[in-house]
Amino acid sequence: MPKILTTESGAPVADNQNSASAGAYGPLLVQDQHLLEKLARFNRERIPERVVHARGSGAYGYFEVTDDVSRYTRAAFLGEVGRRTELFLRFSTVAGNLGSNDAVRDPRGFAVKFYTEEGNYDLVGNNTPVFFIKDPLKFPDFIHSQKRDPFTGVQEADNVWDFWAHSPASTHQITWLFGDRGIPASYRHMNGYGSHTYQWVNEQGEAYWVKYHFKTNQGIRSLDAGQAAEVVGGDADSHQRDLHQAIERGVFPSWTLYVQLMPVAEAADYRFNPFDLTKVWPHADHPLVKVGRLVLNRNPENVFAEVEQSAFSPNNFVPGIGPSPDKMLQGRLFAYADAQRYRLGVNHTQLPVNAPRATEAATYGRDGFSALNPAGRAKNYEPNSYDGPAQTDAALAAPAELSGWTGTYPTPAHTKDDDFFQAGELYRLMSEAERGRLIANLAGALAQVTRDDIVERNLAHFHAADEEYGARLEAAVTRLRTADES
Ligand code: HEM
Repeated sequence: MPKILTTESGAPVADNQNSASAGAYGPLLVQDQHLLEKLARFNRERIPERVVHARGSGAYGYFEVTDDVSRYTRAAFLGEVGRRTELFLRFSTVAGNLGSNDAVRDPRGFAVKFYTEEGNYDLVGNNTPVFFIKDPLKFPDFIHSQKRDPFTGVQEADNVWDFWAHSPASTHQITWLFGDRGIPASYRHMNGYGSHTYQWVNEQGEAYWVKYHFKTNQGIRSLDAGQAAEVVGGDADSHQRDLHQAIERGVFPSWTLYVQLMPVAEAADYRFNPFDLTKVWPHADHPLVKVGRLVLNRNPENVFAEVEQSAFSPNNFVPGIGPSPDKMLQGRLFAYADAQRYRLGVNHTQLPVNAPRATEAATYGRDGFSALNPAGRAKNYEPNSYDGPAQTDAALAAPAELSGWTGTYPTPAHTKDDDFFQAGELYRLMSEAERGRLIANLAGALAQVTRDDIVERNLAHFHAADEEYGARLEAAVTRLRTADES
């Protein structure tokens, strides 16, 4: 027996090819429930896309602990060598809308949801160890400057570089973005970073500041500007296709997780502010410690249900892991779940991709649009005399020591901190050929700017990072701008 097509209420559909009409030529009938339901549902297929990172690809897999880090954190899923935890990972580009091209110069998102037995742990990072800004108050301005202009309706080089002209701390991330790793060949061929500093705390209550590094086991592969233009012309969805097809072929991508650790007492005197997201901790200061292996081995069955509706929040921690005072991170602790309540609704945490898998959520939150209310008849207030879920009295993370007066402060600078030193270090690390490509990429972009003052302010940042870097870029930009005029 072939399966019968039904309406949403389960009644059999007699005809899915012809609408019901008043006679063969006649107008259509309002009583055609199947037609009305089909058109009405189609009108409601789209939901708000993510305000950033709208275009992405996801897959399931697992994390396996290969090295003992239990002396640094009491997180159960990192508790012993060999322990495996199911996970979902969503990669993304940042600036483009839902239908935008994959192979573009843009940071890539690297968001992992670990379904641990102590709740879901979300690590929402990028493929870059640093970011453009230090204060979440600037995030909407930054993103506005990189997306379409309200009047012209297109991305404007003037806006992109005007923001950076007023944001000298961006010089480090710009150097990264316009360098060789700025356009990954695929999501499989790039690293992931937690970027922020987080807190780990062990059974004894000893806390460490920690940075995460996921190193690709496929090797880093990137595209230069010419190759990327070719890829985009041939296949707008190159990253999605590559990831999906690799997993379907059984070629499972993997990453090795390392962390950098800093005992909490060292933070105050470290030469860089360890909570400044525009800075790295040089590996010579804090070497990489191996933790385990992340493997992706299963494609989602349905992209909308599982990728579009996936929701990651940097505020989803588990015992043994917590936030740092990094102001950017603090802003993000609010922003994500708020965005998801708007984008997906207040009950998005009950969707299969977002719900805990190795434990059950037991809250007193109820109702709202599309509530499943899994707690059923259970009491909806706490405390109660009916054996309802109760608090543990055990904080997830260690307390952080604070001092000072409330106010609006710039991010504090440590002895070696300025906005340019690490950008210069990155430039000086590059081979001559890499420097050449970096200068060409930057000059090509900066030469699109129409206003001299915006160009000059930006050039001053690169001069401050490294005199050679600034001089070569200035010469290249001047050449291109003069050629444009003639
Ligand atoms: C204060 C700065 C930031 C704010 C306010 C912010 C805000 C947001 C918002 C509202 C979303 C959409 C969430 C959703 O609709 O589900 C998002 C997505 C995302 N952000 Fe941020 N963001 C910030 C900085 C960062 C940084 C520094 C990183 C990486 C280190 C990052 C990585 C991501 C990723 C990977 C996604 C996509 C997550 C997914 O795949 O669903 N963001 N961000």
